[in-house]
Amino acid sequence: MVDPDQVFQSYGRSCNNPSFFEDFYSTFMGKSDDIRNMFAETDMESQRGLLRGGIMWLVMHARGMSDSKIRALGESHSRGNLNIHPSYYGYWLDALIETLHKHDPQFDAQLEQVWRDTLTPSIEMIKDMY
Ligand code: HEM
Repeated sequence: MVDPDQVFQSYGRSCNNPSFFEDFYSTFMGKSDDIRNMFAETDMESQRGLLRGGIMWLVMHARGMSDSKIRALGESHSRGNLNIHPSYYGYWLDALIETLHKHDPQFDAQLEQVWRDTLTPSIEMIKDMY
């Protein structure tokens, strides 16, 4: 079920703890050495801040905001720029779900499905721009 408000509230319960973004990246990088290598030269402190905004763009897009921010992510992650192959986004979403599970006290299987259903259209748009 797509429900941006439920997702927004869940994100609010989770993202105020700075360790949320540290946990996300250690989970995400733990999924593959290729992913870890992509961030080898990255300033992770600023990257965590960028991700905070990036997740918010996905949620706002699901709430009906224009797709300009999503298109910008599609462009920056595309073949000609960061070159993030579409096959990596499943890991990204799984890592996000695992991190939410850890940080949102109200997280359960139903809320997991709402998160997946709500973010998937925006993620598909980014993948389609590869
Ligand atoms: C950079 C968000 C998926 C790898 C960024 C940036 C944001 C962001 C906001 C900063 C630059 C920019 O604005 O484009 C997201 C979101 C994702 C996602 C919301 C999910 C929909 C991925 C995936 C990978 C990835 C699946 C693959 C491993 C990277 C890398 C950078 C980056 C390597 C550049 C890091 C650097 O500057 O060194 N991402 N990203 N992202 N992202 Fe993503």
